[in-house]
Amino acid sequence: AEAHYHEFVIQTKTVRRLCRTQNIITVNGQFPGPTVEARNGDFLVIKVVNAAQYNISIHWHGLRMLRNPWADGPSYVTQCPIQPGGSYTYRFTITDQEGTLWWHAHTRFLRATVYGAFIIYPRLGSSYPFSIPVQEFPLLLGQWFDRDPVLLLKQADFTGLPPDISVAYTINGQPGDLYRCSSQETVRVPVDVGDTILLRIINSALNQELFFSIANHSMTVVGTDAAYTKPFTTTVLMIGPGQTINVLVTVNQPQGLYYMAAHAYESAVNAPFDNTTTTAILEYKSTRHRDRSRSRPVLPALPAFNDTVTAPAFTAGIRGLSKVRVFIKAGVNLHIMVGLGLINCINPNSPRCQGPNGTRFTASMNNVSFVLPSTTSLMQTYYEGFPGVFTTDFPPVPPLQFNYTGNVPRGLWTPSRGTKLYRLKYGSKVQIVLQDTSIVTTEEHPMHVHGFHFFVVGSGFGNFNPATDPLKFNLIDPPVKNTIGTPPGGWVAIRFVADNPGIWFVHCHIDSHLNWGLAMALLVENGVGLSQSVLPPPPDLPAC
Ligand code: C2O
Repeated sequence: AEAHYHEFVIQTKTVRRLCRTQNIITVNGQFPGPTVEARNGDFLVIKVVNAAQYNISIHWHGLRMLRNPWADGPSYVTQCPIQPGGSYTYRFTITDQEGTLWWHAHTRFLRATVYGAFIIYPRLGSSYPFSIPVQEFPLLLGQWFDRDPVLLLKQADFTGLPPDISVAYTINGQPGDLYRCSSQETVRVPVDVGDTILLRIINSALNQELFFSIANHSMTVVGTDAAYTKPFTTTVLMIGPGQTINVLVTVNQPQGLYYMAAHAYESAVNAPFDNTTTTAILEYKSTRHRDRSRSRPVLPALPAFNDTVTAPAFTAGIRGLSKVRVFIKAGVNLHIMVGLGLINCINPNSPRCQGPNGTRFTASMNNVSFVLPSTTSLMQTYYEGFPGVFTTDFPPVPPLQFNYTGNVPRGLWTPSRGTKLYRLKYGSKVQIVLQDTSIVTTEEHPMHVHGFHFFVVGSGFGNFNPATDPLKFNLIDPPVKNTIGTPPGGWVAIRFVADNPGIWFVHCHIDSHLNWGLAMALLVENGVGLSQSVLPPPPDLPAC
């Protein structure tokens, strides 16, 4: 195994997009930020220096951080943010993960522009479980807002609403040909006829699930969230914020230019959203030079925005590569309803109150809207035994069983607020069933669990039925993921062993929902002896 050293300087940078100049927060002045590359088993040392004017922390999304929550990164959960002028060095080992992950700011909306790819190659001496591609390209899908993220933050704080709807989607920071003032910088991927290439696709968008497709080329999925999958050939991908998908593409046309395109998958009924399309170009080197600059690339057909058949069908098609032994019976069963809600406003005339009838939007898990501490981190208070910051009474089942698919009792539209964790014994076999409530709107929620990768053992529409649905669970080749969509008006079941002590955030990866409180945290107790216990905090852990 090797050690890799990086320095990430958080700094403001002026960029031009869509005919406008604006300031964004970046790492090392790069947008997207630098790609981190390592092998399975390697050790990383990444010093983050905050030369910007806002508090920030960096999360290494999907890395397990075994016994090492100090390196995980979410602000006020595992650390206090790094203050302007401060620095913090993340030190961690990659354990049994191969494929594509990513990193992003984990301090409110700053991840809008602070993100990059994290590529994990096979362990030294081993190789991919598929023939080695000739070339590899990371494609980071993003969302572009026409204001600087700080204004977005202020606006979101003031109104309690999500940031303005984006004005463009991006691929590697570029909107592409179909937007004004963007064609010069459109991302081009040059390819040779006959080659097979590997695309590492990452959805780093703040608030939007996306469909992705390539004109005249099919894709073979070979990995998701840094785990290999059975090869699965498709013409379209649906990728939620936080997820990554590795695909092989065979360059099998004689010549030409082909768009790789992404647009929204929007399952929420009546939600306003950005309906534009971002593109990059798959450019055959065999294309005559004149045609390369002049001819219009072929555009792929993307599913309709509200295609709630294609999206879950794609997700259900993904199977884990290796036969696994998922435990037959879970020791801990959590049944968690996730969804939006409305909270009555104290002053219904305030601009914060843009929900119906003098309310404002909120979001919750089991009807608790999560509140982050602001003067300490959960992990620090836990480690130091300082009480009063959180409680461990997160409800393991919904406060009321009800029909989630219609006529949701009005009483459940208004969650309570709290900093509630759920305590797990080291080594517990955990099953979590996530159920969309259809409160306010029926919507897909990409749910992310820090500190673990989990098996997705089942999924369906309607209400989860604890008597019959588990009989259909896939315990043979379920995919391994760190982020999974709760289908709109449906449920998804995940399983993992709680073998990673510490406090781990669980939340919707749509940032506006997270901001509204669609989160909880798991507190995994230490097991027996040092090898099952949280490591001591590093000396430079930031203070609040
Ligand atoms: Cu990528 Cu807590 O998130």
